[in-house]
This record gives sequence, C-alpha cells and structure tokens, in this order.
Amino acid sequence: MGRFVIAVDGPAASGKGTIAMRLGRAFGLPVLDTGLLYRAVGVLTQRAGESLDDEGATGSIAALMTAGQLDDPALRTRAAGELASRVAIHRRVRDALLAFQHSFAHQDGGAILDGRDIGTVICPDAPAKLYVTATPEVRAERRWKQLTAQGEVVAYEDVLADIRRRDARDGGRDTAPMVAAPDAQLLDTTEMTIEQAADAARRIVEVARARWESSQ
Ligand code: C5P
Repeated sequence: MGRFVIAVDGPAASGKGTIAMRLGRAFGLPVLDTGLLYRAVGVLTQRAGESLDDEGATGSIAALMTAGQLDDPALRTRAAGELASRVAIHRRVRDALLAFQHSFAHQDGGAILDGRDIGTVICPDAPAKLYVTATPEVRAERRWKQLTAQGEVVAYEDVLADIRRRDARDGGRDTAPMVAAPDAQLLDTTEMTIEQAADAARRIVEVARARWESSQ
C-alpha cells in the first residue's frame, strides 16, 4: 500500500496544529509542524545578525537547517512567528525547505504535515486535505491565551494586529501564498471547541482514507 498523507493548512491559531496532533494519534501517523521550519530560519537569521530581507543569507540558513534545531522553545514565541512570516516570502528559503518536507511526507506508512502550502505546493497529491479557518478575533483570543500561558505579557489587541498583519503577508506573497487547495475540505472552527474541531477533522479524514484505500 502507498503512503497516506494528510495536508492540514490554514492561518495562524486556526487550530490546525492541535488538529494535526490529534489526527496523528488517531491515525498513527507522524506529524510535522512546518511553521517551525520557517520560525527556525527567522530566529537563526536574527541570531546570525543577518537581515530578514536578504534572500541569499536567509536561503543559506534554510539550506543548513536540521531537525535538531526545531526543539528550541524560542521558536514558540510571538516574535518568532513574525520573523517566520518575513523570511517565508523568499523563494530561496521555501525551496531550501522543500526537500526536508518531502522526505518527511514520503516516509513509509504516511505522514501529516501542517502549514500554509502543504495541499497546494508541498503535497499536492495528498489524499486528504483540510483547510482550517476561524475569524481573526477568535484566533487572536486563542493565541493570546496560549502566549499568556507560556508567560508572555502581551495585550489582546496587539495579538489581533499580529494575526491580521500575518494573514495579509502570508496570503499576499507571490511565492506559495496561503490559500485553500481547490480539493481541500474547509473546516471553520470559529464556533467549535478543540474537541469538536478535532472530531470533525477525524471524520473528514476517515472518509478520505476509505476512498484512498479503495483506490489502492
Ligand atoms: O504556523 P506558524 O504560525 O508557526 O507559521 C509561522 C509562519 O511561517 C507563517 O506566518 C508563515 O509565514 C510561515 N509558514 C509558511 N508556510 C508553511 C508554514 C509556515 O509560509 N507551510
């Protein structure tokens, strides 16, 4: 049997990360949070004293990325999300991270990847694709709670402004903009608890998996 790949895309704090983790447990598949790759490139660029706007420098840093660099708690901060979306506009950065994502996606048995361009660019043939959304206000509230629980001191209004700025940058860039794949199932989690969202995602993937199995 081939590889069952699940692509989970959507904007910041839509719930896609938690959904991807729950799907990983339900279907026994490894999960890659691809946002961490861009966060790592952003943080490493800043630490190296290079400019985030420098496509050559950020591309070289991306080319040297290893899995071991993804465990750094500094990648989970609000600042790292902003750095990530600034380096993510560069084609050389995106190209350099492609091989890492492909080898994860192509492992035996399958995999789950969550991000912005998994269903459109990284794994366009994935047999299961989800595009997870929620209103900016609800996403900002979730992200604010998460950051506050991590000990960051930040105002809700500032988190909402971050989310709006990132949506505009991620959706408006020329290379691999954030957009739902035409064959992705939309899942709006605005009115859902995380349990409800995870259940809805699991049902969507069960249907996709049954269809995929019958085609194998
Ligand atoms: O999902 P997360 O908030 O960690 O992503 C951080 C940033 O990384 C996003 O705002 C986006 O600019 C970039 N990203 C991307 N493509 C992905 C994953 C993340 O461009 N597949």
